[in-house]
Amino acid sequence: MNIILLGAPGAGKGTQAERIVATYGVAHISTGDILRKAVADGTELGLEAKRYMDAGELVPDEVVIGLARDRLAEPDCEAGFILDGFPRTVPQADALAMVLGELGRSLDAVVQIAVDKDALVKRLTARRTCRGCGKVYNLLIERPSQYDVCDVCGGEVYQREDDSVETVTNRLDVYENETAPLVEYYERKGFLRRVDGNQDPDAVFDDVRAALGD
Ligand code: AP5
Ligand code: MG
Ligand code: ZN
Repeated sequence: MNIILLGAPGAGKGTQAERIVATYGVAHISTGDILRKAVADGTELGLEAKRYMDAGELVPDEVVIGLARDRLAEPDCEAGFILDGFPRTVPQADALAMVLGELGRSLDAVVQIAVDKDALVKRLTARRTCRGCGKVYNLLIERPSQYDVCDVCGGEVYQREDDSVETVTNRLDVYENETAPLVEYYERKGFLRRVDGNQDPDAVFDDVRAALGD
């Protein structure tokens, strides 16, 4: 199964991707996670990407298209993949179609997780992430038992630099301008399935499964 998860920052793409991977055994491709790792490792890519990410702007298309192309060619994607946070612009979506064509692969579905804007701001500013294993917490629905220590790996639980109120507002504007047009783009191609993301994560996942025909 080859799927795209489409949704605003904070819509729950990462949260649902984790459940989809556990259920369907597909590869999880998050361009945000790949970029954050490059930033943490201090690579040249990371240094370039950091200034865009910290400002809540998109990293240039040619950079992320290259990352996605390399990742999609890795062997674990043969069992299927879930794209989380890519594509995010029309040129990225066009490039994805070309890359999949070259690889002899095709998309099965684009699942849009739709969430009200007020809820997005609340979720993002309350999100906390583990630096060690990447586990995502939320001060509103799932806190670590100790303030800044991960329950899973004991790593440091921190707030993503781009989860401050100011940057969140810009990320949501960037989503509206650059990424929201992909809803119509994939609707026209007949791939789009819309899921109500304003429910608790398990209820959202039930709807994601239904949208995937499970
Ligand atoms: P990226 O890491 O992709 O961030 P994003 O799209 O802004 O999305 P988020 O990860 O913030 O939200 P999510 O939908 O995964 O929500 P989550 O499940 O964590 O990108 C970061 C940056 O990298 C971009 O700004 C850009 O600079 C760059 N970048 C990445 N890809 C790029 C691309 N293709 N092109 C160009 N630049 C790119 O949930 C959020 C919170 O809510 C969590 O705390 C969670 O616990 C909670 N939550 C989840 N579901 C629910 C629910 N149902 N109810 C209540 N709370 C919930
Ligand atoms: Mg995410
Ligand atoms: Zn951890």
